[in-house]
Amino acid sequence: MTKYAVFTLLVCFTLACANQENKSKESTSESDPIAIDGAKIFKQSCALCHGPDGKLGANGSKDLTISDFDLNERIAMISKGKGLMTPFENILSLAEIKAVAEYSMTLKVN
Ligand code: HEC
Repeated sequence: MTKYAVFTLLVCFTLACANQENKSKESTSESDPIAIDGAKIFKQSCALCHGPDGKLGANGSKDLTISDFDLNERIAMISKGKGLMTPFENILSLAEIKAVAEYSMTLKVN
């Protein structure tokens, strides 16, 4: 069931994404709908537990700089939450979830 929900989510996301690409080709640049600031969302929604650099680990959260979750796993995690982590699917839009997931990948230390 959870797997199915995650799959549906990813399909929806893919469709939404394709849609946005079409739109951005048509529209001029004054209001860019895909300019979502993942860093800003991270500071607002994630830093409370994960810290501004992803290392805080408050409330039993994981150190994101050493997480080996890939992008899709992060999108699923952020959407559905786990344990003490808040599910964000009703708080952030799918595009925002993806932006913040992408940003969280940049915190990773290789
Ligand atoms: C209320 C505290 C809290 C907030 C807010 C929160 N998290 Fe978490 N996060 C957690 C906890 C707790 C875990 C560990 C869950 C578990 O595995 O049981 C976790 C795990 C994760 C993981 C998986 C890491 C791994 O390797 O297991 C990712 C990725 C993640 N969070 C990203 C985010 C992002 C991005 C946000 C903001 C959109 C966010 N989190 C907001 C508490 C939080």
